[in-house]
Amino acid sequence: MCRRRRRRNGVTVSLPVVPAPASIEPSAGSFPLVPATAIDGDPDAAVALRRVIEARTGLMLDAGPEAARRVILGVEARADRGAPESYRLVVDAETVTVTGADAAGLFYGVQTLGQLIARDGDGWMIPAVTAQDAPRFAYRGVMLDVARHFHPVPTVKGYIDRAASLKFNVLHLHLSDDQGWRIELHSRPRLTEVASATAVGADPGGFYTKADYREIVEYAASRHMIVVPELDMPGHTHAVGLAYPELAEEPVLSDSIRQVAHEYGGGLPTAGTAYEGMAVGFSSLKIHDEATYDFVADVFGELAGMTPGPYLHLGGDEALGTAPEDFALFVARATAIISDLGKIPIAWHEAGAADGIADSTVGQYWGYVAPTDGADDRARAFVAHGGQVILSPADAIYLDMKYPLDPSTPAGRQLGLTWANGPTSVERAYAWEPSDVVAGIDEDDVLGVEAPLWTETIRTPDDIDTMAFPRIAAAAEAAWSPATGTSDLRTWESFRARVASLGPLWTRLGIGFHRSDEIPWVTE
Ligand code: ACM
Repeated sequence: MCRRRRRRNGVTVSLPVVPAPASIEPSAGSFPLVPATAIDGDPDAAVALRRVIEARTGLMLDAGPEAARRVILGVEARADRGAPESYRLVVDAETVTVTGADAAGLFYGVQTLGQLIARDGDGWMIPAVTAQDAPRFAYRGVMLDVARHFHPVPTVKGYIDRAASLKFNVLHLHLSDDQGWRIELHSRPRLTEVASATAVGADPGGFYTKADYREIVEYAASRHMIVVPELDMPGHTHAVGLAYPELAEEPVLSDSIRQVAHEYGGGLPTAGTAYEGMAVGFSSLKIHDEATYDFVADVFGELAGMTPGPYLHLGGDEALGTAPEDFALFVARATAIISDLGKIPIAWHEAGAADGIADSTVGQYWGYVAPTDGADDRARAFVAHGGQVILSPADAIYLDMKYPLDPSTPAGRQLGLTWANGPTSVERAYAWEPSDVVAGIDEDDVLGVEAPLWTETIRTPDDIDTMAFPRIAAAAEAAWSPATGTSDLRTWESFRARVASLGPLWTRLGIGFHRSDEIPWVTE
């Protein structure tokens, strides 16, 4: 077993790398990070490295011809270049070498390097290490709900930067819900003309123009992330009914919807009126009307043409106002439409109940770490149809759950919800193992891990930072790092020490993380 800790001033500290690398080995000495350091090699990776060095240290490297030391950034040229997205990092007193199996791997090696930068007296250094690293899962996602509250392009770009620094490679955008439709589609212009202006709590809405969406997709690609757009159906579609009333059923008002209206306000949903509350499960598209499938073909067809990534997400959750057999029919037809567009459908796990679901549809599990109510059966059904599963256990990595009560925060200012087994501590966000959630499926059946951030109570970039950080780092580790218990880094004690050491970097990057008292934060 290799040593993964170094001793500094007689104190053993973890190298502050999150998510934990597959292997990282300290050695003696360090690389002094001085202005006269040359960065050679791949220009995109050099830009990414200069960005993190400048943010962390304020240094603008300007080596000139007589460079004292070198950082060499490259993509492996040999045919046998290693697993996709993997990298090798070697730091000694003279040279730093980052070699990616591909451009993404090189980018991830640069992120690791950025996390390793440390103070050295009045200057800066990078400890000598050798790291060999590759992701456990191919799909490592974050989801941002831009429907309950709209979040403009600069906020989304900021979230992309934050997620990419933790080696996430998917941004899932929840683009439509009862409260608003957020993406301009020329085939159905009334969606944004009529149904985008509102949000939860009578806050202003908004939407992405096609140019905005392209900007997000391109920015994500520059950070080695794909965008997975979600148009949620057949439920969560009250806003569709504002724009195209002929497609929508009347709201189905259950006791639980009346209870949410009573507790959180926002009134009861009424056909033809914008909905600004937080209840779920009352809306449905008309299942037995061909106009619905013309709509599905139009919106996903146009979105497919705008989305270079392989996935389109059709939602499928909480269709509580839709009869089960109607839901199954809708899922079969909508997933077939998406497959016929040459894209891979993704749906929330409820859609696993549909026998006729298109082969290879990916299921997104949002039940608990210990499944209840057959949620795991639904997830296994995707595998039976040749698909895979994304794990988003709500009581671990739903980033919109409240933190445990912090006596220093007035109750009225505590963001988030509690329905997923109550508040979620950082330790609970960390202490789960992807292979243990849905019994009976293999490691290969898990496409990956995704941390959703629903935004009923989340309105600003600061709110996003507070709820996401530090718990997003736990999700990153579940998605990237070796399985729990297979290395001495994959423990809560190691994780909290490594996250603690990232406090200064996150501060310099302007990330307003929650200073959870579970983490022994390092300050400078
Ligand atoms: C969900 O949380 N309704 C997917």
